Amino acid sequence: MNNLFFDKVTGDPMNRVDGKLKVTGEARYSAEYVLPDMVHGVIIPSAITKGYISNIDSKAAERAPGVLAVISHINSIKVPGHAGNSAEPAPGGQPLRVFYDNRIYSNGQPVVIVVADTLERARYAASLVKLQYNKEIHKTDFDENRALAKLPASAKKNPKSPLADYNRGIPDGYKTAPVIIEAEYVHPSEFHNPMELQSVIAHWEAEDKLLVYDKVQGTQPTQRAFAKEWNLPVENVKVVATFVGGAFGNGLHNWPHETAAIIAAKMVKRPVKLMLSREQMFYMVGYRPHTWQKINMGADRNGRIVGISHESVGQTSSYEEFTESTLQQTRMMYSSPNVSTRYRILPLDVSTPVWMRGPGEATGAFALESMMDEMAFALQIDPVKFRLLNYTERDPERNLPWSTKYLRECIENGAEKIGWKKRQMQPASLRQGEWYVGYGMGVGTFGAHRGPAAVRAKLQADGRLLIQSAVTDIGPGTATAMVQIASDAIGMDPGKITFQLGNSEFPMAPNQGGSAVVASVGSAVVAACTALKTKLLNLAGAADAAFSGSDQNEVIFEKGALSVKGQPGKKLTFSAILQQQNLKDLTVTEEAKPGNERNNYSMYSFSVHFAEVHVHAVTGQVKVNKVVTCADAGTIVNKKTAGNQMIGGVTGGIGMALQEKAIIDHRFGRYVTKDFADYHIPVHADVPEIEVYFVNKPDLVVNPMGTKGLGEIATIGVAPAIANAVFNATGKRIRNLPVTADMLI
Ligand code: MOS
Repeated sequence: MNNLFFDKVTGDPMNRVDGKLKVTGEARYSAEYVLPDMVHGVIIPSAITKGYISNIDSKAAERAPGVLAVISHINSIKVPGHAGNSAEPAPGGQPLRVFYDNRIYSNGQPVVIVVADTLERARYAASLVKLQYNKEIHKTDFDENRALAKLPASAKKNPKSPLADYNRGIPDGYKTAPVIIEAEYVHPSEFHNPMELQSVIAHWEAEDKLLVYDKVQGTQPTQRAFAKEWNLPVENVKVVATFVGGAFGNGLHNWPHETAAIIAAKMVKRPVKLMLSREQMFYMVGYRPHTWQKINMGADRNGRIVGISHESVGQTSSYEEFTESTLQQTRMMYSSPNVSTRYRILPLDVSTPVWMRGPGEATGAFALESMMDEMAFALQIDPVKFRLLNYTERDPERNLPWSTKYLRECIENGAEKIGWKKRQMQPASLRQGEWYVGYGMGVGTFGAHRGPAAVRAKLQADGRLLIQSAVTDIGPGTATAMVQIASDAIGMDPGKITFQLGNSEFPMAPNQGGSAVVASVGSAVVAACTALKTKLLNLAGAADAAFSGSDQNEVIFEKGALSVKGQPGKKLTFSAILQQQNLKDLTVTEEAKPGNERNNYSMYSFSVHFAEVHVHAVTGQVKVNKVVTCADAGTIVNKKTAGNQMIGGVTGGIGMALQEKAIIDHRFGRYVTKDFADYHIPVHADVPEIEVYFVNKPDLVVNPMGTKGLGEIATIGVAPAIANAVFNATGKRIRNLPVTADMLI
């Protein structure tokens, strides 16, 4: 396999294969399908936070023009997978069972779906439904209830779980160090806010056959979830998600509104389209959980970390335990002999959180990388130097070698590019006019994951190659990367290759999540191309003795043709090989899965982000002036799409650092931030020049392309880089995100 592709033809990265479809509006998203007889659903959210529904008056709504049904727990058909006693949920809980009974577990919980022939009529009828509730006292205030935090059920069951308490060396060994800092950090809940709203079209093609167009990150995981819920054979459920307009994690879970649409479609016997409103996106489809952390760090005066104790409490719902790996980076990033971590969750009367870009690690990195900056300052050691003094050449958690780790190269290049030498140790030393100038850094890491995946590859006699996978593309350019990988693996012009995705009927693929798709699906593409090459070579050998008996290393697969090494005259195009045999196509389905490399290596992607911020001396306004973001993500398949991902991840990190915060009015248990006026995300004016640096060295332990994921590490470590830069600019250490002007004046 030729590594460090792909700019070798033109020197430029390839454009997105679906770019034209997207900019011309030809790309079709879930809500854009139109089915015969399709009708529209509108969800009514609960107005209370805890208690039960005492009455629903739907008479006026039912009489309204065009209305087909008003569905709630009162009249909903039973969902087979919802059976069971709600008083005794399974350990770890379960997703909310929509319309199961009259209980309310969180504000905004879907309680009614109104179905009508047009969206406007459904919306109007929904306004006529009158709900009465019996309220109970709710708990939504994290700080007031933090003492109720508990160990997750999965960790209780399995002490080896990464969520269980961890100890290396002396428990709380930081206390033995000459320099100690103890600090608390708070990360608020944040919402994903993808451009595309969550939307679903549910269509029962037969009594036991379900077709769903859905905005999800995995067609087959969704297919399995619905098959289980409706007690159907998996093959009776088809899920289509050809294009997904961003997700950032909220498409990794199936939500009550999807089941509501499926129930409605079954009851009205017509396809039902349901798209959430932007407001509903703020309480129905997950969020990054509010998390409190405490880090205690001890170091010696030469800058060696002696111990780190890191505890974390993240909120979850009362009915389902959401967990994430907030403490992972603390266990493996620095060479501290003593490390203790404690992870807890706090059930509140809120909806269930879900993974959001850099899930867990981004939250944990805010605390850890802020503390690294605090300790470096206490020791009066440069933060770059402090990190390099505690750099690990082996994984200290598992005592194994890294598959690859080029973080040092990232740190050195990033420091150079941001102009780190201008940074002063003493805060508030640099000023440009009315603005203080500061520099900060933050390191990020995320497991270089890979799972099993398969693709079908069909090489046609016309010289085109069609590859299919059930995977989705939430925006990183999956099809583009797969076309490049195939082009490189089989030796064909990428223009002749099509990659189809987003359909559960295609071969096995995981969710697009956890930065693992290129590694997982790309490996299957390589396997399928290799199988095709074997078949081509055998066919060529049968037709021409010059090829017979050769193995793949003695021939060259290039530009859609096969030639014998050292014999330029001996050349057969793939088309010619198929045509000679009267074959319309050659088709293979190949599965690829990781081996046991995980037993022998620790596999991670690494990043470091450097920020230059300007803070206004009078108003406290923070402007991020420049970010340099550096990634060790193995082979970079496409510098442009990978660069786009880094820029997007940093943009999310700027939001996390300076803007994003979900606020609940605890009197009502309801979010007050539920539109873009109150919940701020970065706009163009907030996003400065972002310079991207890739090490671009392959990691051949992880997979045959040498790639490691980069979706998550693009965000992990950005927020502390900015908060640390604010400290350097002003001397104010902000441990509660987001950093806002009022905290700085
Ligand atoms: Mo990502 S949080 O795995 O979509």
